[in-house]
Amino acid sequence: MSGSVLTDRPAAAKPADDALRARVLALRDGLEHGLIGCQGLVERLLIGLLTGGHLLIEGAPGLAKTRAVKRLSDGLDGSFARVQCTPDLMPADLTGTTVWRQDSGTFEFLPGPLFHSLILVDEVNRAPPKVQSALLESMAEGQITVAGHTHPLPDPFMVVATQNPIEHAGTFPLPEAQLDRFLLHVVVEMPDEASERRILDLVEGELNHHAEAMPVTLSVDEIRAAREAALNVYVSPALKDYLVRLVAGTRTDAAAPDLRAAIEHPASPRGTLALMLAGKARAYLHGRDHVIPEDVSELAADALAHRIGLTWRAAAEGQTSRKIIRGLVQRVRAL
Ligand SMILES: Nc1ncnc2c1ncn2[C@@H]1O[C@H](COP(=O)(O)OP(=O)(O)OP(=O)(O)O)[C@@H](O)[C@H]1O
Ligand SMILES: [Mg+2]
Repeated sequence: MSGSVLTDRPAAAKPADDALRARVLALRDGLEHGLIGCQGLVERLLIGLLTGGHLLIEGAPGLAKTRAVKRLSDGLDGSFARVQCTPDLMPADLTGTTVWRQDSGTFEFLPGPLFHSLILVDEVNRAPPKVQSALLESMAEGQITVAGHTHPLPDPFMVVATQNPIEHAGTFPLPEAQLDRFLLHVVVEMPDEASERRILDLVEGELNHHAEAMPVTLSVDEIRAAREAALNVYVSPALKDYLVRLVAGTRTDAAAPDLRAAIEHPASPRGTLALMLAGKARAYLHGRDHVIPEDVSELAADALAHRIGLTWRAAAEGQTSRKIIRGLVQRVRAL
């Protein structure tokens, strides 16, 4: 592969701010230090932060999902809220309500937990559909309308929703159209034995002494600047062609007819854009000023699998969206 195909940018790029990147990487190291064996999750949390995207994290109970988001909030100078979803949750429990103040004779808006910079929405698939759509609308629009008044949400504004695997009873699976609002769908796996052993030592240590503080706290201005730098990462025309070929593989038979036949709903351009932006953020975190095929192939399943729907036959045969996307990545030529 010729490197120049990926790096030859037409115009001079803004020089990278190395001090800023070093602080972002210090945040990453601090997260990894407290989240054993979770490099993939940590990288994706930072990709969400650097792209202004929202994350859906799926995994069994007790896999440090809450811990990861709380730790991220410790490393950010912004407000943090946590919402535990239950079937009786109401949209106003998230958005806030307008109340009548007898003493002043006026209505006052009491903002709900969505008016924070980082929001952990635990077990989003236990919330009823009206709450889910209020949440996903705010994620898409960056504002909330309550009682006819529109309130802007903070910037940065990042939602990290968690869900337990779909089969659980008493849940409302997120509709496909709403899943599309999440930049990445991350699946957390059980730790291996060596990691589990380290988790015991780490958490035992924390219970005995004080937990280790995060090495840095990024300010809101730093987050914005890092976002701009990540957005400034170069994506060559050849790499854009690769992105398009990959996503087109979910729509046409060109790349892999057998995989295409398993797909009922293909990925939309929102998926292609998500993969490009996530790839830029990954390149930034890896100290590059340009995206390489690995940035795309590494993130393809997390960026695309939740945006495609399988045929009932494929699902019955045990296919999964992630397997289909991984298969496409194997077969679609990168450059
Ligand atoms: N990889 C890990 N690194 C450090 N601690 C971990 C790790 N995995 C689990 N733990 C510990 O396990 C416990 C459970 O973590 P946490 O509450 O974050 O899980 P969760 O995924 O949010 O679970 P639930 O789905 O039930 O909300 C915590 O004490 C946490 O410190
Ligand atoms: Mg939790």
